[in-house]
Amino acid sequence: MSTLRAIQADITTLALDCIVNAANESLLGGGGVDGAIHSAAGPQLLAQCRTLRGCATGEAKITGGFRLPARYVIHTVGPVWHGGNAGEAELLAACYRNSLALAATHHIQSIAFPAISTGVYGYPLAAATDIAVRSVRQVMGQPDMPQEIVFCCFSERDLAVYQAALLRQD
Ligand code: APR
Repeated sequence: MSTLRAIQADITTLALDCIVNAANESLLGGGGVDGAIHSAAGPQLLAQCRTLRGCATGEAKITGGFRLPARYVIHTVGPVWHGGNAGEAELLAACYRNSLALAATHHIQSIAFPAISTGVYGYPLAAATDIAVRSVRQVMGQPDMPQEIVFCCFSERDLAVYQAALLRQD
């Protein structure tokens, strides 16, 4: 059975099989965690991303990690928050589900997620965290799932929200 935990760290420093990038549909980089991952991975990451021809919101695509300690990067595109009545919850859940499904096909054993959509895309943190925990718990028992799944929080505040969500068994 997979283990699921939350830590506070810079995701680009994690020496896991895979880290997940909160990208945009162009997959051509940006700010936030996207900018940090591209900066740490080096220019080869952007070169490979260019070959992927973008990624739809809720979907996920995989590249190498290049200069990152992680071997792979799974790029997923979270929804922009528009108030909650534009299918945001389902699209955010799909980011976690599709990223893990892609990880399973690449026999990835350890993976870290940032708090997708809760930065520039404005998704309220508590709601996004509940979706992240629920979505991962729904699939983590399936075959070939990574054995180690980590929610990588960038701040103490985010970590506290994730830890509270992990303690709830809903
Ligand atoms: N390690 C871990 N988490 C990080 C890091 C990092 N180095 N840098 C930022 N974060 C956190 C943010 O604090 C936030 O909690 O990642 C979470 C997601 O925030 P964003 O990076 O802003 O991503 P998102 O809200 O999904 O917006 C995506 O922003 O950077 C652009 O190109 C990106 O257009 C896309 C949009």
